[in-house]
Amino acid sequence: MPLTQSREIAAASRLENVRYAIRDLACVADEVIKLGHKVLPLNVGDPLNFDFQTPPHIIDAVYQAMREGKNGYAPSPGVPEALEAIRGEAAGKGITTVRDVFVTAGVSETVDLCLSALVNPGEDVLSPSPDYPLYSAVLCKLGIKLNAYDLNEDDAWQPELADIERKLTPRTRGIVLINPNNPTGSLCTRQMLEQVAELARRHNLIVFSDEIYDKLILEDTPHLAFASVAPDVPCVTFGGMSKNYLVPGWRIGWGIVSGEAAAVKAYTEGVHRLLRARLCANHPEQYAIKPALEGPQGHLVEVQRKLRSRRDLTQRWCEATPRVSCVAPRGAFYAYPKINIPESDEIFVKELIRQKHVMVVHGSGFGQKPGTQHFRIVFLPDEQTLTKAYAGIAEFIRERYGNE
Ligand SMILES: Cc1ncc(COP(=O)(O)O)c(C=O)c1O
Repeated sequence: MPLTQSREIAAASRLENVRYAIRDLACVADEVIKLGHKVLPLNVGDPLNFDFQTPPHIIDAVYQAMREGKNGYAPSPGVPEALEAIRGEAAGKGITTVRDVFVTAGVSETVDLCLSALVNPGEDVLSPSPDYPLYSAVLCKLGIKLNAYDLNEDDAWQPELADIERKLTPRTRGIVLINPNNPTGSLCTRQMLEQVAELARRHNLIVFSDEIYDKLILEDTPHLAFASVAPDVPCVTFGGMSKNYLVPGWRIGWGIVSGEAAAVKAYTEGVHRLLRARLCANHPEQYAIKPALEGPQGHLVEVQRKLRSRRDLTQRWCEATPRVSCVAPRGAFYAYPKINIPESDEIFVKELIRQKHVMVVHGSGFGQKPGTQHFRIVFLPDEQTLTKAYAGIAEFIRERYGNE
């Protein structure tokens, strides 16, 4: 008789709180698709699902690298010409105290490595609420208790300093800034960056500044890198190709370590231990970093033009729709409207998919102040698609809740 093993293999209990609402909703969408409907996806921040194209010269660079045999393992920190280009990029961002740069499989891996290299059991890292859910997922994976600080909707979603002060513990090691922000589309002011820097100095924290959307600014004011405002503060600036250069599937990101050399030395060595343990980031794709950062940037003009027009349309809709209000996004391609409804925003988005076939993500999937409800819109689709989607959402709100 064959041996059978029927006892359940349980997943680690520390994964219980690992959620990724953006993709978890796919099951509800699948139900609707099986019934023969087309779902309008305003949930995933992938520009290539819409009318955006990767700049051809960077595709050529990867193709050429593959043809030239760059298909083996790469050096663990990244290939020298990519590292040099990232250092140039850091200088262009006004970061004057660069101590190290390394290439990763997307900013997702930078987040994982940088958090893993920092925290010991019992310590914590301040992360924003709402946040990009990977941060809480990695912290859960590491068995670290979440310590979230609020972003203040009444102050254009700036970090709430008083809440940060309240949440700081003697065991807090770092603070995460997402700027431009996902899911709110907000930008940190210079004053805010200076205040966060002051706090980091006082409490001996490292700052993780996620700037993956730094070239997708929808205002005339340029983006301000945290590390340029606070050159002395230990900081890792996260950047990557996914959004600015329209190649999320290539999985290329990087970290730029800055601050006083002596302060970041031991931590950087820890990061390198992890970089070596995971061998390397995708090899041929790294040859696109230099041509992307140093070559023509024409695609960004077109991307920003489209995003501004789509942001404006989104904002006008939010202002005109009963029960909806929104802080105007200033960067990236997300809006995070508040909705005034008598049920949870999770039910709201699931029913919206079922009834109007429009997919947005519930605010509770990112975190929000108790008693408030939100949803995140990805405004990447063209104006016609957005108009259709917004008409569906407005109709759904009217039918389900009535106009206030
Ligand atoms: C704020 C933020 N950080 C990191 C990432 C992950 O980016 P990557 O594709 O480089 O892993 C995303 C992706 O949406 C993001 O929004």
